[in-house]
Amino acid sequence: MKKVRIAVLGYGHLGKWHCQKVEANKDSAEFVAIVEKFPAGQEAARSNHPNVKVVGDIKDIINEIDGAFVVTPTSTHFELVKYLLENNKHVFCEKPLCSNDSEAEDLTRIANGKNVVLQVGHSERFHEAWEKLKDQFHKLTPPFSIRINRVAPFKGRATDVDVVQDLAIHDLDLMLYLFKQKPLQIKANGYKIRTQNWDHANIHLSLEQNCDAHIVVGRNSVKEMRDLEVVTTDGMITVDLFTNKIYHATNSQFEDGTFVKEESYQKRDHLLLEHQHFYASILQSSSPVIGLKDGLNAVHLVDCALKSIGSGSPVPVKLG
Ligand SMILES: NC(=O)c1ccc[n+]([C@@H]2O[C@H](COP(=O)([O-])OP(=O)(O)OC[C@H]3O[C@@H](n4cnc5c(N)ncnc54)[C@H](O)[C@@H]3O)[C@@H](O)[C@H]2O)c1
Repeated sequence: MKKVRIAVLGYGHLGKWHCQKVEANKDSAEFVAIVEKFPAGQEAARSNHPNVKVVGDIKDIINEIDGAFVVTPTSTHFELVKYLLENNKHVFCEKPLCSNDSEAEDLTRIANGKNVVLQVGHSERFHEAWEKLKDQFHKLTPPFSIRINRVAPFKGRATDVDVVQDLAIHDLDLMLYLFKQKPLQIKANGYKIRTQNWDHANIHLSLEQNCDAHIVVGRNSVKEMRDLEVVTTDGMITVDLFTNKIYHATNSQFEDGTFVKEESYQKRDHLLLEHQHFYASILQSSSPVIGLKDGLNAVHLVDCALKSIGSGSPVPVKLG
């Protein structure tokens, strides 16, 4: 295969951006179709991509593609990913891969033995900051504490799901990826403020070796905040994901006599990087950068957090 024949499923807020990235990767991808369920979206897709077939159902073009980007609402991911896998298609699924543990188990069974790439859209992994810090984070001496904030004013988007599925999933995945200590249990609470789902959640994770993580996510905040902070007896590292700055505050002086160092990092096009990795994995038959296990582990942590919010009790974590 020289080029991957691609369909994008869902021409909504993010689907439009995915379509642009398919167009931007003409050397690796042939843009075959956009699958959009509703007529208004179909019309917009036709007008913006006149050379691409626009249909209302994936079944109409399943035999014309090698792979697909699933960018539809979360509640539809399971059925669409299942259908694509059963038809031996490569899949890029936006986060979350599915809605709960039971769907995750079914997907594991279906994906086993399939010779296809399944990549999950945990786009927050692509910050350049993590390339600079990941080795350092892996070598941290326990105990340490992690604090992650991801809050923003109400925008009315993704209200079909709660903030744990929509936002905290990024941070739960990042915590597994960046730090070596595994979660043992989760205790969380939530608030319904503007919708029928959790609009704000505090998630506390007890990790191995007396480490812990506290994740705060909200969609009814007074201002936008996205940062990660880790503290040990050696000092503190803070990453501001908005201003693209890293701060180190240590227990010993830097060369210039200060105890705090500031470092900038480059903002990157995460979606473009995700596309490049996806096509490369398919064309070179290599493992996806963020695969099934990562997707399922993140869904399990979300499931535990939601169970804890519902019951008010701590919930044990059992990662695959
Ligand atoms: N990685 C990230 O940072 C990030 C950011 C935003 C959204 N997302 C994820 O992307 C997904 C889509 O989010 P969005 O904000 O674009 O949603 P959206 O509601 O704006 O768009 C979804 C589109 O899918 C269409 N659709 C629904 N069912 C369909 C089906 N069966 N077949 C084809 N089309 C169908 C809808 O008509 C709509 O146009 C969600 O799962 C969300 O979690 C990820």
